[in-house]
Amino acid sequence: MLITIDGPSGVGKGTVARIIAEKLNIKYLDSGAMYRALALYADLNNIKEDDTEKLKKLLIDIHIQFIKNEDGEDKVLLNTDDVTDEIRTNEISKLASKYASIEIVRGILREMQKRMIRNKDYVAEGRDMGTYVFPEANFKFYLDADPYIRAERRALQLKEMLGIKFNIEKILNEINERDNLDKTRELCPLHPAEDAIIIDTSNLNVNEVVDEIYKKVK
Ligand code: C5P
Repeated sequence: MLITIDGPSGVGKGTVARIIAEKLNIKYLDSGAMYRALALYADLNNIKEDDTEKLKKLLIDIHIQFIKNEDGEDKVLLNTDDVTDEIRTNEISKLASKYASIEIVRGILREMQKRMIRNKDYVAEGRDMGTYVFPEANFKFYLDADPYIRAERRALQLKEMLGIKFNIEKILNEINERDNLDKTRELCPLHPAEDAIIIDTSNLNVNEVVDEIYKKVK
């Protein structure tokens, strides 16, 4: 069983994918976290997006793992360091989109994703899961929502996570910028797969989206 959930930033894919995986008792792949971890690592090592040679070396060194800690919380490990919170900042969101347009980055992460999922039941979430990485998936969903509503959701999420109030207009600009990069890049641009079920979540809450997906899959 392989379910893919793709869509733009802040549409709620992560929350929905996690719940669906729990309900079906299968694993969950957050492919965006891999792009984020890579961006953090490249940034810490001062490697720019256009420095292909240095990026190649870095990609050989990088080891990304998804684990559950003793309290059952999902954690992202970058070469044994817990980077779960560090990769969620706005700076890393922007950087992740930049590195995500580079061919060797996508090539290596795609192989890692395929290796993780091979012969296992998964919900894979991201931008290109149903289109380019797992075109053979049993069920493909594409979540979309009005950009302003996505900005509001993201502001709420950041407030809950960091306790800081963010300016919605600023977040909206960042979302539009990132959507634009993700949709217009040459490699694996964001778009629904031909056989994807498209769900507009603008006026739906998380439970309603989960129910719609769960019913289809069941
Ligand atoms: O989903 P998330 O916001 O964590 O992803 C961060 C960035 O990583 C996206 O804006 C996108 O540029 C990139 N990404 C991608 N392909 C994926 C998942 C994420 O290009 N499958």
